[in-house]
Parts: sequence; C-alpha cells; structure tokens
Amino acid sequence: MSDDMVKYYRDRAKEYEEIYEWRDPNRQEEQELMEKTLKTIFNGRKVLDIGCGTGYWTQRISETAESIIGIDINETVLEIARSKEHGCPTEYRVMDAYNMTFDEKFTGTLATFMLSHVTREEIPGWLEHIHTFLEPGARVFIGDNTFIEGVGGQLKTKPNDPNTYKLRTLNDGTQHLIVKNYFTTKELVELFSAHSKEITEENVFMGKCFWWISYIYQP
Ligand SMILES: C[S@@+](CC[C@H](N)C(=O)[O-])C[C@H]1O[C@@H](n2cnc3c(N)ncnc32)[C@H](O)[C@@H]1O
Repeated sequence: MSDDMVKYYRDRAKEYEEIYEWRDPNRQEEQELMEKTLKTIFNGRKVLDIGCGTGYWTQRISETAESIIGIDINETVLEIARSKEHGCPTEYRVMDAYNMTFDEKFTGTLATFMLSHVTREEIPGWLEHIHTFLEPGARVFIGDNTFIEGVGGQLKTKPNDPNTYKLRTLNDGTQHLIVKNYFTTKELVELFSAHSKEITEENVFMGKCFWWISYIYQP
C-alpha cells in the first residue's frame, strides 16, 4: 500500500463516514444487508477488524461479537473509533495490516474497503498473512466497492501496471492518486480458494454498489 494512500486516509478521518450517508437507495439497501450479514457471521466470535478506520462496522459488529480488536495504520481514524460506544469489549491498536503481530488467534476477521487498495502483486501475500491469525473454522468477510462509472473519480491506468487508480480530492483541496482495484466474481473465487476448500461463486455477493466474500477458513 502506498504512502499516499496512508496519508489520504489519515487526512480523510473526519469526513470518512460521509460515504455511508449517501442517499442512494441501492447503497442504503446493500449497506443494511452488509450490516445484517456481519452481525450474523460474527455473533459470539473473537474478531479482528483489519483497517477498521473510524470503526463504523466495528461498532455495529460489537452488538453481537464476543470481543473485537480493530487495527489501523492511522491514529487519526482510531481516535474517532475509540470515542464510540461498543456492545462488547473492543480495543483499537495502531498496526500495519501487512505486518501484524498478536499473542492470540481469532475466530473471525473482516477487512472492509481494504482489498481494493492492495496492489494486485501484493494480494496473495497479504491474504496469506491475515489467515495466519485465524483458528480453523474462523469466519472471514472481505468486502469492497463494485465499479460504478463516475463514482469516486475517474479510473486511471499506468503502462505495464495491472492496477487501476483513482485521483481523490479531499474537502481541503488536496489530491491523492490511490490504488483502487475492482474484481469480478471469478477473480474473487480464484484469489480466495487458496484459503478455504469449498469456495464457489455462492460465497460471493456481487451487488450494484458493494461486493463481499464470506467463508469459513478451512486450511
Ligand atoms: C477505505 S478505509 C476503510 C475503513 C473501514 N474498514 C470501513 O469499512 O469503514 C481504509 C482504511 O485502511 C487503513 N489503512 C491503509 N493502509 C493500511 C495499512 N497498511 N495497515 C492498516 N491500515 C491501513 C486506512 O487508514 C483506512 O482507515
């Protein structure tokens, strides 16, 4: 993940949750389904939330989970997350998602709106890394945006580079060119099949605004 991407989310902390307020019926409907799915699959589990940001989903999952550790590389977003009330013991730590260390293993993990920012070259190694902290049988949920023409800036490419990029402008006018990759259902099944024996297209939800893959970790 690039330094500019890290700075972009550091400086976007206060305006980040505006994306969840968009009055688009498809977005709202899919966000509600996502919340319901997350609360169900992490019910009673010890959860690791990777790149948890301002804790928007962490807080919602805390209504059913047993405990949560949320990690993010930016303290600015964690300050907001820590100011929220949670329904189960929840701890937020500054940590790099590519170099995590824990004394314990988890029975569930999620990473929302993270995978699109991981370069295609780094994805297999990153997925390998996050699974090392899971108990067999743990529930995994990875979700992100589907591609919608014109939303979130114009998609850019670079010669001989398999990644796609977006130029994002913050409210203060600063601009950041960030990696933003999109995936087909087939690509997701291929990427995640290394981490569970029975991943099929049935594990993928491909909506109008969001996609997610949800499965049981079976090494
Ligand atoms: C698009 S936000 C998603 C936040 C949250 N998961 C959500 O769904 O609302 C991506 C988050 O990843 C964090 N991030 C970026 N690079 C990271 C890294 N190397 N390690 C941990 N977190 C990182 C950013 O600070 C940001 O909070």
